[in-house]
Amino acid sequence: MPEKPRKRIVVLNGGGDCPGLNAVIRAIVKTGILHYGWDVWGSENTFDGFLKPGKLIPLTLDSVRGILPRGGTILGTTNRGDPFRYPEKDEKGHVVFRDYSAQVIERFRELQFEAMLVIGGDGTLTIGQAFFEAGLPVIGVPKTIDNDLEATEVSFGFDTALHTATDAIDKIHTTAESHDRVMVIEVMGRNAGWIALQAGISGGADVILIPEIPFNFERVCEKVQERARAGRAFSVIVVAEGAAPIGSKKIYRERAAGDPYGKLGGVGFLVGNTIQKRLDVETRVLVLGHLQRGGTPSPFDRLLGTRFGVSAVELASEGRWGQMVSLRCGRIDSAPIREAIAHQRLVDPTGEHVRVARAIGISFGD
Ligand code: F6P
Repeated sequence: MPEKPRKRIVVLNGGGDCPGLNAVIRAIVKTGILHYGWDVWGSENTFDGFLKPGKLIPLTLDSVRGILPRGGTILGTTNRGDPFRYPEKDEKGHVVFRDYSAQVIERFRELQFEAMLVIGGDGTLTIGQAFFEAGLPVIGVPKTIDNDLEATEVSFGFDTALHTATDAIDKIHTTAESHDRVMVIEVMGRNAGWIALQAGISGGADVILIPEIPFNFERVCEKVQERARAGRAFSVIVVAEGAAPIGSKKIYRERAAGDPYGKLGGVGFLVGNTIQKRLDVETRVLVLGHLQRGGTPSPFDRLLGTRFGVSAVELASEGRWGQMVSLRCGRIDSAPIREAIAHQRLVDPTGEHVRVARAIGISFGD
């Protein structure tokens, strides 16, 4: 009797890289091969595996050996590769968008994959949901340092970013104090203030500015002056890249074609320059940037990534298509991908974290 072909699944990740991605990929490969006896493939650079030759690769136990502590992703990633709206240059060099989704579906079927495991933030999971609605068996895994996905209390990557940002605030503190300076640290998070808020509290910031609470320069300056009057001639201000003064728009450093979100950045300099001008104090600005996405994942993110990876394969074995693995009250659970992408999970300005920060004297500039 001919041997039954082994079940074959494919994994891909999209959007910004994130500490813990390799832990998820490793868990998917190991669980698929060792526990279920399946073949596991990877699509490089998000969906490019389905669109370009040589980018769909079989993943073996050897492919994932030693990657657990490594940042980045062995599969590569892009945030400009939406097959439904794929950006390309025409003959005149203008960016045009083409729909290659049918090609992805055709290739998926041709290779007889039985599941597509999509690791991503809201952008990539939205594409995953669209393929699910088009009939593909999709399972989602929540990934983002911004921690802005609904339906899970935390995404992997956030904890490591928090460690990096808190470590930076600690280091900035000592130099701020030595020089009697105001130090402004701009952190990532897109439209959500989670990194700024939690790293700000953990690092003992004096002011935290987040997108969810528009700020007033008067109030920020008052806090710096109040500290100076109390004999603290330095201040540390943590600004989320999406924060903005009341009545002003968010600041973008770039809005490239094919990038659905634009690149936030620059509000740290606005805050630093304004304080320096208004108060005549020495001010320095640090933009933490992509450091927050790099480096070895924290034990929490390795563990969560591994739990998510195993659970994603389990969902695939049960045929629970259109579901995303999630964490609720510390336990692994699942929710429809559609629920996770319905809207961004933002900081509640009246929530517990903000109340805690205010109680210990942190100003939100409001
Ligand atoms: O979503 C993750 C994130 O790091 C955001 O915090 C940030 O705004 C954005 O990605 C930066 O994107 P890029 O890597 O394209 O500059």
